[in-house]
Amino acid sequence: MKEIRSVVLGCGSYLPERVLTNHDLAKMVDTSDEWIVQRTGIHERRIAAPGELTSDLGLKAAQAALADAGRDASEVDLVLMATSTPDQTFPASAVSVQAGLGIQHGAAFDLQAVCSGFIYALATADGLLKSGAFKRALVIGAETFSRILDWTDRTTCVLFGDGAGAVLLEARPIELAEDRGILTAHLRSDGRYKSKLYVDGGPSSTGTVGHLRMEGREVFRHAVGMVTDVVQDAFAATGYTAEDIDWFVPHQANKRIIDSSAHKLGIDPAKVVTTVGMHGNTSAASIPLALATARADGRIKVGDLVLLEAMGGGFTWGAVLLRW
Ligand code: UT7
Repeated sequence: MKEIRSVVLGCGSYLPERVLTNHDLAKMVDTSDEWIVQRTGIHERRIAAPGELTSDLGLKAAQAALADAGRDASEVDLVLMATSTPDQTFPASAVSVQAGLGIQHGAAFDLQAVCSGFIYALATADGLLKSGAFKRALVIGAETFSRILDWTDRTTCVLFGDGAGAVLLEARPIELAEDRGILTAHLRSDGRYKSKLYVDGGPSSTGTVGHLRMEGREVFRHAVGMVTDVVQDAFAATGYTAEDIDWFVPHQANKRIIDSSAHKLGIDPAKVVTTVGMHGNTSAASIPLALATARADGRIKVGDLVLLEAMGGGFTWGAVLLRW
C-alpha cells in the first residue's frame, strides 16, 4: 500500500461573544484577579449564550477551517469532534456539525478524551486517513464547559471556558506530501487517576449531567512529567529534538504548566504559543484555538515543525508532531 500522510490544509476557531473576566468572577466567588492571573495566567474566558450549543461552536470553527483551506464542505468525508460536553448524550454532536455543513456522505462521530481530546482525535483521524478509508477529515475540538461547572466552587469555575477550533486534514501520498503532515502521534492513558478530574454525573451513574470536580494540585503534580515523557517518545520516533521545533502548541490549561513543560523539554520560550490568558482552559478546543491564533497572526507558516501535547482527565495524555 502507498504510504499516506495527513496534511493540514487549514485551521479555524470560534469563541462565543460573552466575555467573563476575572473581575466578574470575583463578584461571584471568593477569588481575585491577582490570584487567578498569578496561579494560571488566565485573564478572561468566553461563555456560550443560552441556546448556543457545542455543535454550534464546532460548526463555526469547522467553517472557518474550510475557509482558511479554501475548500468546500462537500470535499470532507470525515467529521471527527473531540468533546466532553456534547449537545446531548446521543447522537454525537459531530453529526449536527456534519448536517450543518450539508454533508451527507462519509462518517461523523465524537471522541471523548477530555483535555487530550484533540490529540486523540488527530491521531484517530490520521490513522483513518492513512488506512485509505477517508480522504479529508475535519478534526474539531469544541466545548461548553460552562455548562458542567459548579459556579460556587472557586477552585474550578475560574479555570475553564467555552470555545472551538478545527483543522482540515487531507490524505496525500507521501511523494506529494512534500515532507508535510502528521509525522508521529503518541497516546497514553492511566485510569488509576480517574478520580483526580471527573464529572460527578452521567447517563449510566446518576442520570444527570453532573459537575466538574478536580484535585487541581494532584493534576498539576502529574502534568509536566506526563507531557514531557510523551513528547520524548515523539522525538525518539522521529529523530527530531527540541531545537528543531518551530512552534510548541500545548494544551492551554495553565501558563505555569505550559512554561514548566517547555523549560523541562528545553524549548525556547519564544517558540511557545500561549493563548490560555484570553480563553481559559477550553479542554479539547484549546489546541486548535491556539493553532488558529498562531496561524492567523503569521507565526505558523507552511513547512514549520509544530509540536502539540495535552494532558487531562482519565488521566489521558498525548503528543503529535507535524510539519504544517
Ligand atoms: O486540563 C487539564 C486539567 N486541569 C489542569 O491542568 C489544572 C491543573 N492544576 C492547576 O492548574 C492548579 O493546581 C490550580 C490553578 C487549579 C491551583 O493552583 P495551585 O497553585 O495548585 O493552588 P492550590 O490548589 O494549592 O491552592 C492554593 C490556595 C488554597 O488555599 P490554602 O489551602 O493554601 O489556604 C486554595 O484554597 O489557593 C486557594 N484557592 C483560591 N484562592 C483564590 C483555590 N482556588 C482559588 C481561587 N481564588 N479561585
